[in-house]
Amino acid sequence: MNRLINCITNKKSSGIPVWFMRQAGRYLPEFREIRKKNPNFIKLCLDKKLVKDITIQPLNRFNLDAAIIFSDILMIPYGLGQKVEFKKGYVPELGELELNKIINTTQENFINKIQPVYDGIKEVRKEIKNKNLIGFVGAPWTLLVYMINRQSPKKNFNFENIIKDQSLTNKLLRKVEETICLHVDKQIEAGANIIQIFDSWAGLLPKEELDKYCFKPNLKIVNHIKSKNIPVICFPKGIGKSYADFNSIVRPDCINIDYEVDPIWAKQNLNKVSIQGGLDPKILLKNNNDIKKEVENYLNIFSEKSYIFNLGHGVLPETKPETIEFVTNLVRNKK
Ligand code: CP3
Repeated sequence: MNRLINCITNKKSSGIPVWFMRQAGRYLPEFREIRKKNPNFIKLCLDKKLVKDITIQPLNRFNLDAAIIFSDILMIPYGLGQKVEFKKGYVPELGELELNKIINTTQENFINKIQPVYDGIKEVRKEIKNKNLIGFVGAPWTLLVYMINRQSPKKNFNFENIIKDQSLTNKLLRKVEETICLHVDKQIEAGANIIQIFDSWAGLLPKEELDKYCFKPNLKIVNHIKSKNIPVICFPKGIGKSYADFNSIVRPDCINIDYEVDPIWAKQNLNKVSIQGGLDPKILLKNNNDIKKEVENYLNIFSEKSYIFNLGHGVLPETKPETIEFVTNLVRNKK
């Protein structure tokens, strides 16, 4: 029985599926050990054997319903020929944006540059047999933010700056959408059986721009994934009550709520969709009693819904691996 697929596609199943965004990552000592020996993050994402090992690390420890491929949303700008580096402090920095070079990158050029990502997926698929393997992409807007801003918008962001050259913005948006669809196809072909779309910076958009830069581009990608008969999960982080419009326009199979979304509001306002996540990753830094209360709160609120346990953003590096085990078991033992 595939509990996760049944839940995403809204079929009855017994038990609540559970996995964690960033379940492979810096909170795991076995990841940090590999990372120490591999200071170049992009190169690490292009090492099929290490991609396999890192992807499987959390599955070796915890009773999870899925693996998520170890990679990064910034492999798309990298594959399109923009320089991508992870500097000290783990912050990404991108090189000069050369529109013509990007537009002239053919599908073959792109695939050749990041082929090891797909080889890594094949390796994982061989090893985990018929377990779920989640492939992922960044949404067009979130990739545009990194490509034009060239650094995380956390510190330095101005919306007008991103859209001031409308011709560039529109051309880049089309190219990125097309490349995302290609990247999705290749991940599915290599063995991914669910796709998640991360629109991590959707919350930076003024409300009146959500339709153009968030809803429409996500809808294009979602329709493409649905046409392949593969379930799709969307994560339009930070858009507040606009989650309801997102859901009715984009119609993904599953929607991941962030930690700012009130779960009771979500239960009442997000219809005909399964819901994933929500719990603030900071809660996992508290003591087990507090964690249990908060986890059970989400499980109780969504007990009548198709619900997948996950967080409202990625696992924080300070999280103890034992906490992930504790939470996984809480979900597993929920009657
Ligand atoms: O979820 C998983 O376990 C799969 C792997 C995964 C990574 N990045 C590995 C990673 C996934 C799904 C991502 C997606 C990603 N990457 C997003 C969308 C999700 C989100 O967090 O909002 C974004 C915005 C990025 C871009 C990115 N990659 C940033 C901003 C950073 C640095 C800061 C940070 O959040 O860690 C990364 C680096 C990165 N990607 C690490 C990992 C394990 C840490 C890198 C390290 O060890 O140096």
